[in-house]
Amino acid sequence: MHEVNLAEAVTFTPNKREPIHNWFYYKEGFSRGLVDYCIDRYRMEEPVLDPFCGSGTTLLACKQRGLMSVGIDVSPLALLAARAKTHAYDLEGLRNAVLELKKLKPEFKGNPPKQDWVRKLFYAKTLENILFYKERIEEMKDELIRDFLLLGLVDTAGRVANAVKAGGSLRREKKPPLPVKKLFFSKLKFMYRDLKKSPPAPERGLPAVEPEAVESDARKTSFVENHFGGLITSPPYLNKIEYTTVYKMELALFFKAQETRLRAFIGEEAADEGGAPATGAGLPPIARAYFEDLEKVLRNCLPALKPGAKAVFNIAGGCFPDQLVESDQLLAELGQRVGFKPVEIIPCRKIQCHALRSMKTGTVNESLVVFEK
Ligand SMILES: C[S@@+](CC[C@H](N)C(=O)[O-])C[C@H]1O[C@@H](n2cnc3c(N)ncnc32)[C@H](O)[C@@H]1O
Repeated sequence: MHEVNLAEAVTFTPNKREPIHNWFYYKEGFSRGLVDYCIDRYRMEEPVLDPFCGSGTTLLACKQRGLMSVGIDVSPLALLAARAKTHAYDLEGLRNAVLELKKLKPEFKGNPPKQDWVRKLFYAKTLENILFYKERIEEMKDELIRDFLLLGLVDTAGRVANAVKAGGSLRREKKPPLPVKKLFFSKLKFMYRDLKKSPPAPERGLPAVEPEAVESDARKTSFVENHFGGLITSPPYLNKIEYTTVYKMELALFFKAQETRLRAFIGEEAADEGGAPATGAGLPPIARAYFEDLEKVLRNCLPALKPGAKAVFNIAGGCFPDQLVESDQLLAELGQRVGFKPVEIIPCRKIQCHALRSMKTGTVNESLVVFEK
């Protein structure tokens, strides 16, 4: 059994020290240790499902144990990270592609992005260099190599932008002009070294598996029935209104996605006062909409599990102006109503509700809510 500090393991912080997991900092992520903990404690079998896979922590941690897994997410940025971190690369081909790209002298002749605010985040030359490499990467035929290089470039763009990810938002902050080419290729070197250092699974006596990371909405996705031997996931935070604004630069520059979503996809449309769901009487509309959406996800996931398989939801409470919402208790009730058997709720840490967010200051739990089919 892995020793794990759950208060840390529900955050991305321990992943910063983990090769490959640390290729892209995903603020909302949990850590490899949490996945190992769940697999061991609940004797999960493959394949493992993660209906909110984010940057692929569940997928990569399963792969590292030789277990097959499937993840879905709505964010193209998260999926790029999940895929790039879990592909089975041909290292020789990858090395050659990096060396070829490095020989080129950046010269961008295309059009800058239309959005004024994106252009303003960069020095003109810096942006041109990023766009030059983006174009060259998009021309490449090998999808795996494209994902690897693009993730390196997305990370580099975040470093050279005149902005910092502060709390839940992107704050403009002037930096000195930074050398895109140098930073980009040193990032790729760092990533490549990780791959060289991690011997392929068969060399460690484990089966080689390539997880699936699919773009899909968990509220609307049905999975193969009686198929999964476990589920490990963390839904978006309940009231992180500014959820995707942290990545709005990356989304606008590298993906044809909408610029900004004002709220997490879950609970996007606040329920009106009318049809209050059974879970949620007395909750703020956003919270009711959130639990309505989670109910859809639970109903989609239950049939997908094999009988006896466990499902672990890492969920945090929400701070509202006049109310603190204990999501773990509400989710546990919801799961039972949908047909899951309750197993346990493990509180992992307390989250402080700040006066700005909630006049009623106090704390809410971040917990693991565990069910069995
Ligand atoms: C808390 S994060 C998961 C992070 C992940 N555990 C990791 O370690 O990277 C929640 C994820 O849910 C995704 N998401 C939000 N609404 C969704 C929906 N309706 N269907 C699928 N994914 C969704 C977000 O894009 C985000 O990546």
